[in-house]
Amino acid sequence: MRSTTGWQADGTTSLREVPIPRRDLRRDDIAVRVDFCGVCHTDLHALRAHDGESLLVPGHEFTGVVSEVGPDVTVFQVGDSVAVGNIVDSCGVCSMCAAGQENFCREFPTLTYGGKDRHDGTPTLGGFSREYVVREKFAYPLPSGLDAAAAAPLMCAGITVWEPLRALGVGPGTRVAVAGLGGLGHLAVKFAAALGAEVSVVSRSADRAKDALRLGASDVVVSTDPDSTAAARDSFDVLIDTIPVPHDLGPYLALVAVDGTLSQVGHLGTITVEAMDLLVGRKKLSSGGSGGLPAIAAMLEFCAAHGITADVEVLPSARVDEALDRLERGDVRYRFVLDLSDLD
Ligand SMILES: NC(=O)c1ccc[n+]([C@@H]2O[C@H](COP(=O)([O-])OP(=O)(O)OC[C@H]3O[C@@H](n4cnc5c(N)ncnc54)[C@H](OP(=O)(O)O)[C@@H]3O)[C@@H](O)[C@H]2O)c1
Ligand SMILES: [Zn+2]
Ligand SMILES: [Zn+2]
Repeated sequence: MRSTTGWQADGTTSLREVPIPRRDLRRDDIAVRVDFCGVCHTDLHALRAHDGESLLVPGHEFTGVVSEVGPDVTVFQVGDSVAVGNIVDSCGVCSMCAAGQENFCREFPTLTYGGKDRHDGTPTLGGFSREYVVREKFAYPLPSGLDAAAAAPLMCAGITVWEPLRALGVGPGTRVAVAGLGGLGHLAVKFAAALGAEVSVVSRSADRAKDALRLGASDVVVSTDPDSTAAARDSFDVLIDTIPVPHDLGPYLALVAVDGTLSQVGHLGTITVEAMDLLVGRKKLSSGGSGGLPAIAAMLEFCAAHGITADVEVLPSARVDEALDRLERGDVRYRFVLDLSDLD
């Protein structure tokens, strides 16, 4: 076992700087010096659900530099810039893995934190730390030209909206709505606009209208304004719902066009749906989470070609509690990224 320094939960939503274990490199592992890690709303969910007993180090979208390679590593060399997302292993042989959908692995993929290592059963500890050890297959070359801090959120927030947008065939002429203009939402707007779609943002307030237009949207629907939602009724082929709390899907399904799809990627608990809200208009309900290896590689290529990264506010990792607190209050435009260099 080797060790590094990380930010560990202690049963509250504040984190403590402590030494944490990392496994010794296996033959196909690389060690990554973590430079930047995004703060995802999922980290907040995980901290709220934490029992205070198990080891929890959040963080599942990071970029850094390869510091060591195992003997069977072929793709990476020491010094390469890499990006790692929210999945770090899968069985590799099931039909999902064979189809390049490792995110849906029949044995469940190994999560970057809060998961269990497939070989030794130890808990996985996330990227709010100075070093991560990962199979090279689940690390991606960071395209040159992408800012390392602003690219980190692509690896969870980005891929989580990229895969549904692609799977639902979003392109020129598609009318896309993005509900919730946060970390996932702002990247969904950028992606959909760059794919050629006509994009609207569905937000709780009109305050974000200017930002929405700058990000690539052409319109804002204010979910709390009945006139605004009535005007947008039945008008979107695809609605990506990133809202992080349980909510009635009815008003959002009402915005979806005939034969359109609402992809619910934000709240992952139980949902209830009125069948009539689907029946009228033959509407479809879908979801998604993370992405398979080919989709992640394609997303990074697309981002490099279109110059897309997240809009970030970079903070020294010592200010992680402040980042989490402001994320909880919705005071972020549009992703906090921790700079882990202060852990040296
Ligand atoms: N499927 C997956 O694999 C996956 C991956 C990553 C994250 N997630 C989940 O996706 C959700 C969003 O994550 P995020 O990091 O993008 O969060 P975020 O940055 O906090 O953004 C969420 C946005 O939703 C809107 N919102 C917040 N609270 C709301 C409420 N009470 N009612 C209605 N709208 C509300 C806000 O937008 P407006 O102010 O514009 O209304 C907010 O900016 C989280 O639940 C997270 O766990 C899922
Ligand atoms: Zn995430
Ligand atoms: Zn599998």
